[in-house]
Amino acid sequence: MDAKVGKISIVIPTYNESKNIAHLIERIENSLKECCIYEIIVVDDNSPDGTSEIVKEMSKVNGNIRLLIREGKKGLSSAVIDGIKISNGEYVVVMDADLQHPPEVIPKFVRKLVEDRADIVVASRYKKGGGVERWSTIRKAMSRGASLIAKLLVPEANRTSDPMSGFFAFRKESINIGNVKPIGYKILLELLYSNPKAKVSDIAYIFGERHAGSSKLGFKEMVTFLIHVIRDSRPIKFATVGASGTFVNLGMMYLFLRLGLFYDYASAIGIESSILSNFTFNNAWTFKDRRKRSLASRIFRYHVMVAPSGLTIFFVMEMLAKILNIYPLIGQFIGIIFGFIVNYLLSSKKVWNP
Ligand code: GDD
Ligand code: MN
Repeated sequence: MDAKVGKISIVIPTYNESKNIAHLIERIENSLKECCIYEIIVVDDNSPDGTSEIVKEMSKVNGNIRLLIREGKKGLSSAVIDGIKISNGEYVVVMDADLQHPPEVIPKFVRKLVEDRADIVVASRYKKGGGVERWSTIRKAMSRGASLIAKLLVPEANRTSDPMSGFFAFRKESINIGNVKPIGYKILLELLYSNPKAKVSDIAYIFGERHAGSSKLGFKEMVTFLIHVIRDSRPIKFATVGASGTFVNLGMMYLFLRLGLFYDYASAIGIESSILSNFTFNNAWTFKDRRKRSLASRIFRYHVMVAPSGLTIFFVMEMLAKILNIYPLIGQFIGIIFGFIVNYLLSSKKVWNP
């Protein structure tokens, strides 16, 4: 690779990796000494097994190695974020310390970042040519299941074949790290979520076996993961807002029916009230990080986009009332169900588009 390649910061979170870290650093150096300028940042949570002492000794004779020691085990994601914050490279690589992530992949990351101008590069187990070494069918199924959940609940995750990967790289200038909240352990998912325009590229690799020691991610982390994806799921937030809008819609319609208004007018008032309340909540919550258009423009575009579903509600109510003699409030409710899906698709594509 040519000399124009910028500096690479390799961030490695460690907790009790004393039997792995020296091997890993050696392999990283072997893969990068020919091609790149780099620094290795080890973020250790004061591991009781003496991981940090080993790294400290190595850093005395090797200026590429930096060590950040944190008091107590604060979790993988925050370790990665703290490492990124002190990094000074143009590119960042995040990888585990247990040699499950082969360092020989790093030059491929660099190639994608430099030559293909990718913003985020993911080492993927699920791209053709990738895989896992000796995993039980149950572990494979769980991993697949987790990816599927992530992709369904967080649409931004569909830009990679392996959103659960802990092995990835990115161009620092195109990624907004300030937005990323260190909750859970899926940093990549957070990056994809809060950087919807970043260009993502995958590299196939084989997830190896742990060299020594044991995994630190157990049941608790899986629960954290679920909380994390639900918290970040725009479709779930959007559906929650939609459900609240149903109450507003039917509540206002009921109110105006009780006041003696003709049901067509009561229906229209219910629909418009729910449009305004849904807009308010989606704007303040579901898409709060995507308010780049002016408020007037968002309100206007939202109305244009929900017009089809609003008209659907009205039309269904009207038909059911006129032809089948169904009570208008019930017709309105059936209409609301029809209007829902199209509303999400249009809103996320045309109003709060990335
Ligand atoms: N500093 C710090 N603090 N490091 C930690 C902590 C912590 O609390 N917990 C774990 N680590 C470090 C480990 O020492 C290791 O280097 C890396 O984070 C990954 O931990 P493992 O315990 O080896 O995780 P895993 O192999 O079960 O999971 C890996 O593969 C998954 C894909 O199946 C991780 O890369 C996951 O992010 C990935 O999703
Ligand atoms: Mn591991």
